[in-house]
Amino acid sequence: MLLGALNVLINITQQTIFLPTLMFISRLIRQLYARYMAPTEFTTQVLKCDPSSITFPSSSDEPQISSEATLEALKLASHHLVDLGQTVVFPTETVYGLGALALDATAASKIFSKKGRPPDNPLIVHVSSFKMLHSLLPPGYAIPKSYEILMKHFWPGALTLLFPRNPDVVPTIITANQPTVAIRMPSHPVARALIAIANAPLAAPSANTSGKPSPTKADHVYRDLNGKLGLILDGGACGVGLESTVVDGLHEDGNIRVLRPGGITVEDIERVLRKDIHDLGNIPKVLVHKRDYADEQMESAPTTPGMKYRHYSPAVPVNLLLTIPSLSGIEPTTRFSDYIGSLRKDDGNESVKIGVLAATDSKLWEFIQPEDGIVWCRYPLGPLAEPSVIAHHLFDGLLSLEKEGVHLMLIEEVDEDREGLAIMNRVRKAASESVRIELQ
Ligand code: TXA
Ligand code: MG
Repeated sequence: MLLGALNVLINITQQTIFLPTLMFISRLIRQLYARYMAPTEFTTQVLKCDPSSITFPSSSDEPQISSEATLEALKLASHHLVDLGQTVVFPTETVYGLGALALDATAASKIFSKKGRPPDNPLIVHVSSFKMLHSLLPPGYAIPKSYEILMKHFWPGALTLLFPRNPDVVPTIITANQPTVAIRMPSHPVARALIAIANAPLAAPSANTSGKPSPTKADHVYRDLNGKLGLILDGGACGVGLESTVVDGLHEDGNIRVLRPGGITVEDIERVLRKDIHDLGNIPKVLVHKRDYADEQMESAPTTPGMKYRHYSPAVPVNLLLTIPSLSGIEPTTRFSDYIGSLRKDDGNESVKIGVLAATDSKLWEFIQPEDGIVWCRYPLGPLAEPSVIAHHLFDGLLSLEKEGVHLMLIEEVDEDREGLAIMNRVRKAASESVRIELQ
């Protein structure tokens, strides 16, 4: 009887202590290998995710997923992120993001190496719930009233807010040593579900090699980063097509400073502040960096989005065509036909392939006629009256023309209202030259 009891005891010990310990050690070895010793070359797997199969019930932060294939893809992506400490590309409503665990400095460092991103350029942290947002903030921090309003109207969505960094939680690699951390809650069901399933905030810049246009389709990412990534979740084309608006509302004057115009327009921000703040004297001003204010100290630091480094540039030169009459009216203009003549190749034999991006109803198209020595590749962006459509197509236009093998791209300016402000912010940075054109 004693022997029987001993056997049972050994059995229980094996099952409750020995086996789990063995499994724990083997899991740990696999994870350490994947994190620190795994190869940097990957066979890049692209898995389709169906955004329409994911819903977030209003009472819960947990997604409900009706497609088995989408659920499996999300679980695998979460495994890559959480267990292996690897990066995963996922769609957001703005552009595709290259994600890694935000609170794990080793995992986050892989974002920088894969993109070739300078370490002094901080990352945005993505959350799936307000509970997750609060877990990142300094204990007892009171969220400003203006932020409450902006989050009520635009979260989840294309708005990034700067918050004070909690040094006990957010690693310095994320914020490039800044005292603030940029946070947003994406509305794309795949992005939000991935963060919720991983149950961890994800740092994610746009999923492109640093300096290139941001990707708005899985295929853009694949062509750029194939072999450097393990997994791309393909959720179709991103709706907004430009990155989020980055906002700093932490200054003592309470004003809202727009560091990077983006998917949420300045007009939208002004509208909701006016609507929800009833004391007229207390409505914060919305100030756009470089349009309404300058900040020398900030401009010398790379934290200002897109200031220090080359941005949004495809592999070939982009020239900006200025066609909207300038306020001063004194800048020299070039006749379009003369300008086109100057672009022909000198040797006369070879044609130059020129990509043209302009609004669908632009007058410019009348002047893009068959010409000796020029092959035109046209990319109409959308109606002038609908800058959100132009924004949706902008990066796809630059990347599609690059893929077509053009030697040069011409892009026509648009009015800087609504999404036009963000469009021109990107276009100016993409362009190496600008020329004022007379259409005749
Ligand atoms: O829509 C988006 O914002 C996309 C998607 C993937 O969420 N992400 C994105 O990330 O555009 P990225 O890294 O390409 O651009 C983030 C910008 C950077 O230019 C950076 O300078 C700025 O946000 N940023 C991040 N943290 C900041 C901080 N603490 N202070 C000031 N600017 C910051
Ligand atoms: Mg970027």
